[in-house]
Amino acid sequence: MTQNKTHTVTLIPGDGIGPEVTDAVVRILNATGVKFQWEPYAAGAEAFEKFKTYIPADLYESIERTRVALKGPVTTPVGGGFSSINVTLRKKFELYANFRPIKNLPGIKTNYPGVDLVIIRENTEGLYVGLEQEIVPGVATALKVVTEKGSNRIARFAFEFARKHGRKKIHCIHKANIMKMTDGLILRCTRQVAKDFPEVAYGEHIVDNTCMQLVTNPYQYDMLLLENLYGDIVSDLCAAFVGGLGLVPGANLGENAAIFEAVHGSAPDIAGKDLANPTALLQSAILMLRHLDEDQAANRVQAALEKVYTEKTTLTRDVGGASSTSAFADAIIAALETGPA
Ligand code: NAI
Repeated sequence: MTQNKTHTVTLIPGDGIGPEVTDAVVRILNATGVKFQWEPYAAGAEAFEKFKTYIPADLYESIERTRVALKGPVTTPVGGGFSSINVTLRKKFELYANFRPIKNLPGIKTNYPGVDLVIIRENTEGLYVGLEQEIVPGVATALKVVTEKGSNRIARFAFEFARKHGRKKIHCIHKANIMKMTDGLILRCTRQVAKDFPEVAYGEHIVDNTCMQLVTNPYQYDMLLLENLYGDIVSDLCAAFVGGLGLVPGANLGENAAIFEAVHGSAPDIAGKDLANPTALLQSAILMLRHLDEDQAANRVQAALEKVYTEKTTLTRDVGGASSTSAFADAIIAALETGPA
């Protein structure tokens, strides 16, 4: 508990549904009594319109100073235009570990009850280094970059996490049967790191088989460790186990900074209609509260969230309710005030 401390946090509302879900989450966090000083910044197309740059220098400077950011989704153009803001920020601040817990919320019926899975995705290497070129007209290539340093670092992060949180088993997910050098290097490094953690069981599965195994029986997995692209895809697949993209949180963690964000995108189809579900960003904010050593507030918000989901009276449309984004946030704030059921 950091009583009386004011946390300065960089806030990136983003675009599409970003400002709506961010506003809801900021209202809830402010209602916990924890003191925040928010530093809001535009990013992406909105920033370009105002400042002729997609990520203003002030935003970089703010994260360097606060070392923690809460971020809404930002639209990324497909097949051209500017580079993903997320990928750029992850690279700039070396946020090498993407952490996505996948756990059911009470009251949300899915085909997979009782899932409790942790996904650790390498966030800075692989095909996401963005080294693409058209070598001759009609032939384009992309470089997949894997380093020993990056592979050791993410493997150690995953095993340290397992040790700290009492997780039982890590599966490293790969395609080293085809990508023998790149994914092969990841496996060699991970096997080596695994030796330092004898209390954590270690296994390996090929990524295509993993997708089949996951939809057949996700309970066989405890923690998944994946390189960048596989992690991106498989973590969205896993979001479906617990009710979809509107629910699951994410954190991008490095030695010097952390950015907490929802897994979903800017959802242009429902933007501006007060329909978006802020749960994913709220669950990311709970991770942020823990990161800031505000565990008591994190537990209170978690309890309020579970209460609202258990009661089912004020849920958003994507999870079978009829409530607006803002009414859902009001219900969480009311639940915070009344305490656990
Ligand atoms: P999306 O996640 O925005 O939407 C997929 C579907 O899920 C849509 O039907 C949408 O209405 C629904 N959905 C997503 N979040 C929701 C929420 N909180 N509440 C209720 N329903 C929700 O994915 P899409 O359409 O592929 O991407 C749209 C844009 O977002 C693209 O420009 C993409 O690049 C960007 N994007 C940004 C991310 C980020 O900034 N973290 C992550 C993923 C995509």
